[in-house]
Amino acid sequence: MATPRPVPHRAPAPDRLALRGDLLDFSAAPAWGDTAPSNVRWRADHWLLIDRGRIVGVQPASQPPGPDWQCEDHRGRLILPGFIDTHVHSAQLDVIGSYGAELLDWLETYTFPAETRYADAAVAAAGAADFLDALLAHGTTSAVVFPTVHKVSADTLFAAAAERGMRLITGKVLMDRHAPDGLRDDVAQAERDCVDLIARWHGRDRLAYAVTVRFAPTSTPAQLAMAGALCAATPGLYMQTHVAENKAEVQWVRELFPEARSYLDVYARAGLLGPRSVLAHGIWLDAADRALLAKSGAQIAHSPSSNLFLGSGLFGWRAAEQAGAAVSLASDVGGGTSLSMLRTMADAYKVQALAGERLTAWKAIHAATRGAAVALGLEHEIGSFDTGCAGDVCIWDWAVGAVATHRLALARELHERAFAWITLGDERNLVAAYVAGRERFRREGDNPGDTPAAGRNAAATHND
Ligand code: GUN
Ligand code: ZN
Repeated sequence: MATPRPVPHRAPAPDRLALRGDLLDFSAAPAWGDTAPSNVRWRADHWLLIDRGRIVGVQPASQPPGPDWQCEDHRGRLILPGFIDTHVHSAQLDVIGSYGAELLDWLETYTFPAETRYADAAVAAAGAADFLDALLAHGTTSAVVFPTVHKVSADTLFAAAAERGMRLITGKVLMDRHAPDGLRDDVAQAERDCVDLIARWHGRDRLAYAVTVRFAPTSTPAQLAMAGALCAATPGLYMQTHVAENKAEVQWVRELFPEARSYLDVYARAGLLGPRSVLAHGIWLDAADRALLAKSGAQIAHSPSSNLFLGSGLFGWRAAEQAGAAVSLASDVGGGTSLSMLRTMADAYKVQALAGERLTAWKAIHAATRGAAVALGLEHEIGSFDTGCAGDVCIWDWAVGAVATHRLALARELHERAFAWITLGDERNLVAAYVAGRERFRREGDNPGDTPAAGRNAAATHND
C-alpha cells in the first residue's frame, strides 16, 4: 500500500467543543407533503455541545457553556448533522460530467477505462484521499462507497477514512465478466480478497465492510452465490449494488438470468437482500419488487442527479415508501454530477415534480441525515443531534451571493427558507465540517475566532 498522505485539519481537536447557531435535525420521518411536521427539531440560536467526539447536549444561547468549553459562535448560520451519501464511486471523480451516453455506453466509454488506473497503489491512495476530502468539503461526513475491483482501492479507502475518523462503508467491487482486461476478478481470488479485507477493516474504528456486487451483468452466478455466502457468514456486513437503473440494462439482465422473476429477484435468489443491503436506483421496479424490498428491509439509494444526467428515468419514491421500502439519497458521482447533497436534494425535488409529487425540504433533508442513518441501522451514531451520536456536524450559510441572499431574506416561514436554501445552495454555503468533533474542513477565509458577521442573519429575520 502507498504511503498515506497528510490529513488536512486546521485545528487540534478540543476535548469540549460548543457550536452556536440554528440547529436543525429530526426526531422521526416527516410525512409526504407536510411542510410543518412535528418531527422537525428546529432549535434557533442554541449551543450544540460535543465532548470527546460525542454529542452531549443542546442548550439555548442564553445559557453559554462554561470556560472549559472551546466555543465557536456561528449565530445566524445553520447547523446540521453531516450528510450521509448512501451511494457514490470514489474512482469516478475522473469521469464526472462526461458527455453523451446512457448507462451501458457510459460504463464502456468512460468509467471502466478510468477505473483500471486504480490497480496502481499510488493512484488508489491519492484518489482515496482526494475523494474523502472532497466529500468533507461538500458537507458529507459519512458515505457508502464503491471503489474499484482492485483490492488496493478498498484498502486505501479504508485507510484514508480511518485517518479522518469517518464513518465509511465500502468493499472491493466484485466483477468477473463483461468488463475489460484489468477490471475483472475471479471467484476464488475475489473471495480471498474479501475475507482478508473483512478481517482487517470490518468493525475497526468507524468502518464497515460492504460486499460490493457491481451489478448483476458483471458477476457470474457463481460469483453472486459467493457474495451471498459471504453475507451469510459474517454478521453485520453490508451489501451494495445497482438495480433496475436503465431499460437496456434491465433487458440485458432478463437475458442473462432467464430463471429470475425480475432484476431484483436475481439478488434475492443469491441471498443478497437484507436490512443492510443498499441498492442504487431502483427506477424500473414493479409492485412485487417493492414488496420484496420492504420484506427484506433493503433500501433504495435514490440517485436523482445520476438518473437525470444518464437519462435513466424517474424514481417512484412515494410508491417505494408506500410499499414499506426505505429510501435514502445519494449523489452517485460520477453518473451524478455533484457531490453536493444540496444539489442532490434539489434534483430529487425536480424528479418528483415531473412525476406529479411534491418533495418537501423536510423529507429531503431527513433522507440525507437521520433517514439514511435509520436505513443503515446507524441512528445511534450518525444523522442527528441525539445525545451519544458522533459529533459529525456541518455549519452552513443560509445564502451565498446576491440572488440567494435576496431570496432568503424574503422567506416568510421556516419551510420556505429551508426549501430556498436547498434549491439555491451548494457546497459554497459550507463554512465548516467536523468529524467526531474534530474540524476536517474550513472554508477559505473563515476563521473559527471571527465574531459573527453583521448582516449574516439577514435571511433569518422573519422566521423564528
Ligand atoms: N451500474 C453498474 N456500474 C455502475 C456505475 O458505475 N454507475 C452507475 N450509475 N450505474 C452502474
Ligand atoms: Zn453507482
